[in-house]
Amino acid sequence: MGNKKKVLFSGIQPSGVLHIGNFLGAIKQWVPMQDEVDEAIYCVVDLHAITVPQDPKELKENILKTTATYIACGIDPKKSSIFVQSTRPEHTEMTWLLNCHASIGELSRMTQFKDKTVSGKEQASTIGLFDYPILMASDILLYQSTHVPVGDDQKQHVELARNIAQRINNKYGEIFTLPEPVIKKSVARVMGLDDPTKKMSKSAGSGLNYIALDDGADDIKRKITKAVTDSGSEVKSGPDKPALTNLLNIYSEFSGKSVTDIEVEFAGKGYGEFKSSLAEVIIESLKPIQKKYEEVISDKAGLIKILNTGTEKIAPIAHKTLRELKEKIGLGL
Ligand code: TYM
Repeated sequence: MGNKKKVLFSGIQPSGVLHIGNFLGAIKQWVPMQDEVDEAIYCVVDLHAITVPQDPKELKENILKTTATYIACGIDPKKSSIFVQSTRPEHTEMTWLLNCHASIGELSRMTQFKDKTVSGKEQASTIGLFDYPILMASDILLYQSTHVPVGDDQKQHVELARNIAQRINNKYGEIFTLPEPVIKKSVARVMGLDDPTKKMSKSAGSGLNYIALDDGADDIKRKITKAVTDSGSEVKSGPDKPALTNLLNIYSEFSGKSVTDIEVEFAGKGYGEFKSSLAEVIIESLKPIQKKYEEVISDKAGLIKILNTGTEKIAPIAHKTLRELKEKIGLGL
């Protein structure tokens, strides 16, 4: 990426449970990157959350809970800006400008929209859900982001942001930096514990699908014990072993050991022993995060201060990009 300023932008919806898929696929990658970029911006994307129904009181609480989770996982407000999307009006204004440079056809190709709507009932979903990738493009492009660390399910959206940026640059002259998704292959798609053919998801029907970041030891043991395995009894990853591959990748990420080393460690030992060790590894890894979370969430005034400082710091960047784009488009007086 040459000598260009490195700007990282990423975000998570404050829509309740955060699980180890969000942690391994996104937040865990964010932490070391804070020291590798010139500007790191982490957003709590509440406007994305309302693309599906939300309880207003819960949403408000979840905004602070998500912020506390960022900090508990290692995002340092001294190094990074943390802010709430709806506190910066530039995001919605930019969305309109980008809407007018994107086609219904390209948004119709977004697989997440297809996944989130019931087939045949697309007409009943909100325009917000359809337009969600444009709001995400606004988030990314407003800050001239270069690095966007996300899980695999967001890759298509980052590519759309890049395409729209390129289109606008071609039409009006250089305005936007082109963003790149940053995706760690082994945890790009952490799969459901109850169904390793589908990604781990907070909207999955069963609580056995995921381990929440605030799950206690008993729940973690129960969910790992019940996790689906493949036929056979060997602790081995491979294309014909989707369940074990997923569990081994999770083990590897939490323990720092390579998948091969873990396979060697459990050679000839069977699923039971592997699973109880995996549960322990997850319990021990989440313990310090849970402890820090309790500390951080108990100081609501402190959290709000962090969010206000974050939004003030990044406001001039968003404001400048928006002003430049409006000028190029020929808007206003
Ligand atoms: P969201 O809130 O659905 O998910 C947050 C992050 O977690 C990742 N993720 C996963 N990674 C691996 N395995 C899984 N099973 C898994 N489930 C979720 C997601 O890929 C994501 O990185 N629209 C986005 C948030 C957003 C955003 C942005 C991200 C809004 N604006 C700008 C980056 C840049 C979303 O709804 O993510």
